[in-house]
Amino acid sequence: MKKLLSILFIFALTVTFAACGSSDGSEATDESADNTLIMATNAEFPPYEYHENDAEGNDQVVGIDAEIAQAIADKLGMELKIEDMEFDSIIASVQSGKADFGMAGMTVTEERKESVSFTTSYAKGVQVVIVPEGSAITSVDDLTAKDANYSIGVQTSTTGDLYATWDLEDEGLATVERYSKGADAINALLNGKIDCVIIDNEPAKAFVAAKDGLRILDTSYADEDYAICIAKDNTELLDQVNTALKELIADGTVQSIIDKYIPAK
Ligand code: ARG
Repeated sequence: MKKLLSILFIFALTVTFAACGSSDGSEATDESADNTLIMATNAEFPPYEYHENDAEGNDQVVGIDAEIAQAIADKLGMELKIEDMEFDSIIASVQSGKADFGMAGMTVTEERKESVSFTTSYAKGVQVVIVPEGSAITSVDDLTAKDANYSIGVQTSTTGDLYATWDLEDEGLATVERYSKGADAINALLNGKIDCVIIDNEPAKAFVAAKDGLRILDTSYADEDYAICIAKDNTELLDQVNTALKELIADGTVQSIIDKYIPAK
């Protein structure tokens, strides 16, 4: 009988705890909203971020950045939600808090550092020049030659846009045509509307591989570092993401994700 009583007592205690737990339980649902990391990106940038259908035919954003971001979210015990937007909306959406961080093969620049903080860098980028085969442009120097007057395609607000604008257009050496997607600049190049495209080397390789008649100049335009951007006042998240990212770099996870998308030749 004593045994039965103690079992009943334990049962009662368990029920009491479970009841307390349920009020926590409802909080947990609220928390799950806070437990989501929203990543702002522009998924027009293979192999860093692009659209692909999964096995069920559902459109998904995949790529190097999407996978590194997922690994960071896993380490922080958070859910990752990716929001695709125009490249030039990313920084504003991070600043306003609509997104928690921006990750988009984004180059660290002094100008951007005035608006957002950057994590440690996780990849290198190179700005390259794509021309049609047989183009009169055979090296980067042709773009800066004294009487140069080429029409240069770029993705709006990317570093390719900034360099072409500052170094060439502002010097009266070129006109810059701005497109919301890199692929649109490539199509304009194929249609003969522009003379070349300045863009990051990995998407350049992907675009050139997908179309006939284009090549990448051997001389590159600029070397860059890619990093994740976070709102300046969100130093707590910056620390968390930096710690997770550094661990993922140190244990080889980042390199293995990059190698998966950019196989060594
Ligand atoms: N690295 C260049 C920049 O930061 C281009 C990045 C474009 N990224 C993209 N997801 N469309 O300006």
